[in-house]
Amino acid sequence: MEQKSMSDNISGMETQHKELGGHVKSLCNSLKNGCALSDLTGKLDKLIEFTDAHFVDEEKLMRLYGFDGLESHRRTHKLLSDSLAGLRENILDNFGEEEKKKLVAFLEGDFHDHIIEDMQAWERGEISKKFAYQRLHKHESSGQSGDMPAYATESGQIVLGVHIAD
Ligand SMILES: [Fe+2]
Ligand SMILES: [Fe+2]
Repeated sequence: MEQKSMSDNISGMETQHKELGGHVKSLCNSLKNGCALSDLTGKLDKLIEFTDAHFVDEEKLMRLYGFDGLESHRRTHKLLSDSLAGLRENILDNFGEEEKKKLVAFLEGDFHDHIIEDMQAWERGEISKKFAYQRLHKHESSGQSGDMPAYATESGQIVLGVHIAD
């Protein structure tokens, strides 16, 4: 992923979040509509696989762009993954209404909230500016001199900073 430009990486995250939201919706609909265990397992395993891959990709990009709060974001990802794995175990052990409700509550609650928060955090303008400031600060504190490089954000705004993703 690091070989792509920052704007490609950010739109990749947008696509992944939309796809993740789609998996969640489909699984919740199945759970609410009395799906068979095999249908549930297929969708749940697909969601877990997609989630794990997304978390890895997102953490890599957050590290690449020097995000503040990466470690706490990683801990949140771990908690969400562990909760999902635990709920999977429970529902496979006891495929009843109570476990279905718990899984829907988690998916529509904490899990969905995290997707929305991530989508907002990756909003192009916001991230570009934040990234530029962080790079500017690193450039100054590293003692480098000379003109700061500049690059254009998705919205066409020119900002100072080192665009390391290209
Ligand atoms: Fe995310
Ligand atoms: Fe995240």
